[in-house]
Amino acid sequence: MVPNSDMTAKEVVELNLPRHVAIIMDGNGRWAAQRHLPRKLGHRQGVEAVRVIVRAAGEMGIKYLTLYSFSSENWKRPPEEVNDLMGLLRFFIRRDLAELHQNGVNVRVIGEREHLAADIIAMIEDAEKLTAGNDKLFLMIAFNYGGQNEITSAVRRIAQEVKAGTLDPETINNETVAAHLDTAGVPDPDLIIRTSGEKRLSNFLIWQGAYSELVFTDAYWPDFSPDSLREALVEYSNRVRRFGAVSPADGG
Ligand code: IPE
Ligand code: IPE
Ligand code: MG
Repeated sequence: MVPNSDMTAKEVVELNLPRHVAIIMDGNGRWAAQRHLPRKLGHRQGVEAVRVIVRAAGEMGIKYLTLYSFSSENWKRPPEEVNDLMGLLRFFIRRDLAELHQNGVNVRVIGEREHLAADIIAMIEDAEKLTAGNDKLFLMIAFNYGGQNEITSAVRRIAQEVKAGTLDPETINNETVAAHLDTAGVPDPDLIIRTSGEKRLSNFLIWQGAYSELVFTDAYWPDFSPDSLREALVEYSNRVRRFGAVSPADGG
């Protein structure tokens, strides 16, 4: 639970931790290019960072962690790179699932899965089924995920329910929409971190992130360490979240 080994117990208690941290894991390719390595090796090293950060997040007391690993727009990359990224999801599930399960991690994959390879769909379903009863850390992997697609699918399903007569359009509110998203039942991210120095959301959690605090770090994802995560948590804890209201600190 200790966000920083140098902090006093009082400082730790005062540190206001986010319940849900979401990370845009960016910069694998540039990490590799910097070392004159193929991009593929950057992605491979990125999986190691995932392993370390999932464990660290659990130890720091984060309850929900969402990792953006493949966007609905990443299909625009060369087929070999797309293949490598698909292969790494297989590799990650094969290698790390048993340990995640042992550590009480609940795994859920968000994003469109219909058009993924049949063996990947089966692996995702097995992983979710195996870990469904776990509640130590809720890990959501955003794979073939795009926020606009997610909202569009939600709207389509809401329209179908209206057409079928099971939903009264007059009752549709923000909660109705949220309940039809892939993240139904999950609290909105308090903190969204993006690595690699880019400062945009790239279609990540665009509904859920309406009031998220954003932290941008220059580190490429394979270099993002538990210390980097701690730094982001400390920055978060110093933010004033107003949600449109007036905070007492501002004279409210
Ligand atoms: C993030 O690293 C991983 C994915 C988007 C799949 P990138 O592959 O985007 O790395 P850069 O941004 O090209 O350095
Ligand atoms: C966002 O990174 C997607 C993931 C990290 C999975 P990109 O590298 O695809 O984003 P853009 O293209 O620079 O916006
Ligand atoms: Mg990128």
